[in-house]
Amino acid sequence: MKMLGQIEALRRAVLGLRADGRVAFVPTMGNLHAGHLTLVREAFRHADSVVVSIFVNPLQFEPNEDLDKYPRTLEADCRALEAEGVDLLFVPPVEVMYPVPLEQQTRVEVPGISTLYCGASRPGHFAGVATVVCKLFNMVQPELAIFGKKDYQQLLVMRRMVCDLAMSVEILGVDTVREPDGLAMSSRNRYLDASERRVAPRLYATLRAAAARVTEGECNWGGLGDWIRKELDNVGFRTDYAVVVDAATLLPPADRSEKLVILVAAWLGKARLIDNLEMEIK
Ligand code: PAJ
Repeated sequence: MKMLGQIEALRRAVLGLRADGRVAFVPTMGNLHAGHLTLVREAFRHADSVVVSIFVNPLQFEPNEDLDKYPRTLEADCRALEAEGVDLLFVPPVEVMYPVPLEQQTRVEVPGISTLYCGASRPGHFAGVATVVCKLFNMVQPELAIFGKKDYQQLLVMRRMVCDLAMSVEILGVDTVREPDGLAMSSRNRYLDASERRVAPRLYATLRAAAARVTEGECNWGGLGDWIRKELDNVGFRTDYAVVVDAATLLPPADRSEKLVILVAAWLGKARLIDNLEMEIK
């Protein structure tokens, strides 16, 4: 596996890979776990070579967030990616990614969907994600890019950006990878202490209980969101949002909605956990 930090060297290396077939790209912030590695494996199922990036993107963190504390484990990450057969790892320093001061950086805004839920709680977050992913796409120019459904709203923001800006990248979403007790894998799970870690699986358990209520005929979506919030707050979470929405628009379900998604973000101690569950309705 080649590891590069400069844009020109990356472009040259990708050119070589492209000569051999389809190139897939998996952008990450590192501290890789089985969720990330599942994206890499999925990438290999659809392409001949795989490029991964590790970049803790300052533009997508709010000033009071965990940018400095975000876990950085480059050595272990390299070993894991090497073992997966990744062709190229791009690890740009901040000054390569953002040579101008952040406030002067050209930005990609995806209006509408970026203002909801996680975007309401973290106002600059999705513009930061869209901007860095747009730059990375321009550098790597992959045929295909892989994102996790764990960050469901992020996946839809990526699809919207690619569509609105006519980018020639196919976006593939991959199911959430979970711990055996149901907790969605996340780099931020390490912020949980032992007792919080025991409570954390209740997040997904509550999503499943809510989906079971829908199967039994529940269709008061607002009421169901309130129920989820109450269940979580009762066991020690501080729920940020819990909503049942159309899976394509993230807006309240319409009569014609066939697929819904329950989206939840909740604090548990110092960790802000997010999770979601897709549901078909008849
Ligand atoms: P990061 O949190 O490192 O996640 C990188 C990719 O891994 C994202 O597409 C995310 O949805 C996916 N992922 C994380 N946990 C997962 C899990 N348990 N199961 C399946 N996929 C999972 O998301 C980001 O980084 C950044 O916002 C980024 C897109 C790299 C832009 O900076």
